[in-house]
Amino acid sequence: MFRFFANRNHYSFADIGLRCDVHSHILPGVDDGAGEFADSVAILRAMHAKGVERFILTPHVSTMFPNKAAELRLRFDHLVATLPEDLAGKISLHLASEYMMDEYFDSLTDLLHYSNQHILVEMSYGVRSPGLLETIFRLVQDGFTPVLAHPERYIFYFGGKKRPRGVEELEQLQEMGCKFQLNIQSLSGAYGPDSLANLKYFLDHDWYSFVASDIHAARQMARYADFKVSPAQFEKVRELAQNNEMLF
Ligand SMILES: [Fe+2]
Repeated sequence: MFRFFANRNHYSFADIGLRCDVHSHILPGVDDGAGEFADSVAILRAMHAKGVERFILTPHVSTMFPNKAAELRLRFDHLVATLPEDLAGKISLHLASEYMMDEYFDSLTDLLHYSNQHILVEMSYGVRSPGLLETIFRLVQDGFTPVLAHPERYIFYFGGKKRPRGVEELEQLQEMGCKFQLNIQSLSGAYGPDSLANLKYFLDHDWYSFVASDIHAARQMARYADFKVSPAQFEKVRELAQNNEMLF
């Protein structure tokens, strides 16, 4: 089963086999991701060189980045129409959003979701969204499948080496129909030992459904290395990469 990685301690981005990325900040000039068109192209080239062919762009939508769906669609169409020749025809781009579960989100009616009615949501890393359960409940009632971005990064779930804090709430979210998405950079331990411990717990309990780059800049590619997970855990990450296709 672990034929590729049984004798390896180090894996690279390409080893994940990520052909479809489902969380990225490549759309220029709308959030803390790509600033200029050239930045977007640099990210796309860097990721395409590692095997990614299909990208879902998920700009932040929040009180801090109060992007409107109609404006994001216009910018997205412009990016697609002006892709350089070496990328056009080799990659495909799609648009969704990453919604912060805050008051701005509650005011929106036009939502940029994945296909099959999946929708990417996040919380502040340090502060749990007060209306978390209500928001997830409402989304499910409205026919959406919420996908919680990078649950391993939320410090209010950090519980040390053994067990995430608030594990009951994380289980409840899943019972309500919420899916979890793993960030590739988290695999390198970039967010500290508690984040890494949670990540391993989530992988071991098969709590993730998807894996994504959450890339903001091309230089970030260098941090997608030295993944600190076991061969068995890494094999699960590779399986998640296949799941991503259902979001297109
Ligand atoms: Fe993100």
